[in-house]
Amino acid sequence: MENKVHSSENSGKDFTLSALLDRLLSYVAELVSKPLQSGLIYFLAGLLPALFIGWMLFPMALYSRQMQPINFSHALHLDPEVVDTIEGDTEQERCLYCHAFLDDGTFVGIPRIDSCMECHDDPDNPLGETLAEEKLLKEYVAYEREIPWLVYSRQPDNVYFSHIAMVKMGEMACETCHGDHAKTDQLPLYRKNRLTGYSINIWGKNISGYKTNTWDRMKMDDCADCHTEKGVEENNACFVCHK
Ligand code: HEC
Ligand code: HEC
Ligand code: HEC
Ligand code: HEC
Ligand code: HEC
Repeated sequence: MENKVHSSENSGKDFTLSALLDRLLSYVAELVSKPLQSGLIYFLAGLLPALFIGWMLFPMALYSRQMQPINFSHALHLDPEVVDTIEGDTEQERCLYCHAFLDDGTFVGIPRIDSCMECHDDPDNPLGETLAEEKLLKEYVAYEREIPWLVYSRQPDNVYFSHIAMVKMGEMACETCHGDHAKTDQLPLYRKNRLTGYSINIWGKNISGYKTNTWDRMKMDDCADCHTEKGVEENNACFVCHK
């Protein structure tokens, strides 16, 4: 125990979160081991609310929450037993039915209402029975109005990102960067950072700053880390991502 404390102190400039946690834990362990002389109670009385405010309340207050205009179920639309007209040999080809690449290589992104209307075309005859579909038909299809989707992964305007480079040349699967979004039935709330204006998907889903999956966070360093990992460091010059 003693040794561990000293070695982490000796490393001096190690202010990483894990090093700090290590110190904190050994401090607590020390206090617990000599409860009589310690201010353990005071320490905990201060620590617990601080952790609560720092890890729970602050992030909750920092992010505003918004519902999507209607629910959209990827799981349902990608289930061949429910929707049998979305064709493709691989799953990714079926994604591209809606998230298509145009001939000039630009990426459609979220499909427009005319693409929904290939199937949902008659406001008086829903395909199913959900309220979401009723809203789709009465509020959007009837007027051919675009659905104002909130885009979880959208980067600031000054960032250049090209799907065709990643998906075609880089041969990366959608999940590499988007996780299991396309497996879900319910859309998550859109959470926007009140200070930066970024969505939580960019700024970091994990409040402690740890990142376990590629898609937990997509800030400048996260882009660059993958480029380095995949051996395409030449893309880490400023002008490649900021045109
Ligand atoms: C029937 C059309 C359709 C198909 C097929 C489809 N999507 Fe989507 N996708 C949508 C719509 C509509 C949205 C907007 C609502 C939402 O965020 O889910 C969307 C949003 C997304 C987003 C969220 C982007 C963001 O940051 O907000 C991802 C990621 C995505 N789709 C991936 C996929 C993948 C992967 C597949 C194939 C496995 C796929 N989609 C197939 C219609 C489709
Ligand atoms: C290839 C045909 C097809 C396309 C394209 C399509 N849908 Fe659907 N959609 C269906 C079918 C089939 C159902 C299932 C109806 C049922 O049996 O419940 C459905 C169900 C739905 C529902 C109700 C289920 C739920 O999740 O609440 C919504 C909402 C919906 N679609 C939205 C959309 C939107 C938005 C688009 C455009 C991005 C779209 N659909 C594109 C075929 C399609
Ligand atoms: C290398 C990482 C990466 C891969 C692989 C990837 N995406 Fe994305 N995706 C992103 C980033 C980053 C953005 C935000 C781009 C921006 O705002 O300019 C994004 C945005 C999107 C959006 C929202 C577009 C908008 O702004 O309206 C959709 C939809 C989407 N991706 C679907 C897909 C699908 C489907 C695939 C697989 C065919 C895929 N992505 C593969 C990183 C990736
Ligand atoms: C999961 C890995 C991964 C992530 C995350 C990633 N990239 Fe990339 N990126 C690649 C690879 C691989 C290439 C090289 C593709 C090729 O040309 O073969 C590339 C190439 C590029 C290029 C050059 C495209 C061209 O037109 O030549 C740009 C620009 C780029 N990435 C921007 C970004 C930005 C911005 C982000 C973060 C928002 C990002 N990338 C995140 C893997 C990634
Ligand atoms: C691999 C892609 C990539 C490269 C290379 C890159 N950036 Fe960025 N940059 C981003 C992304 C993504 C963001 C938005 C997310 C964030 O703030 O981290 C960003 C944000 C920024 C911002 C903040 C802008 C804002 O609106 O908050 C500045 C300033 C910036 N970059 C400057 C640079 C400079 C200078 C370089 C070269 C040393 C560089 N970037 C290289 C991807 C990149």
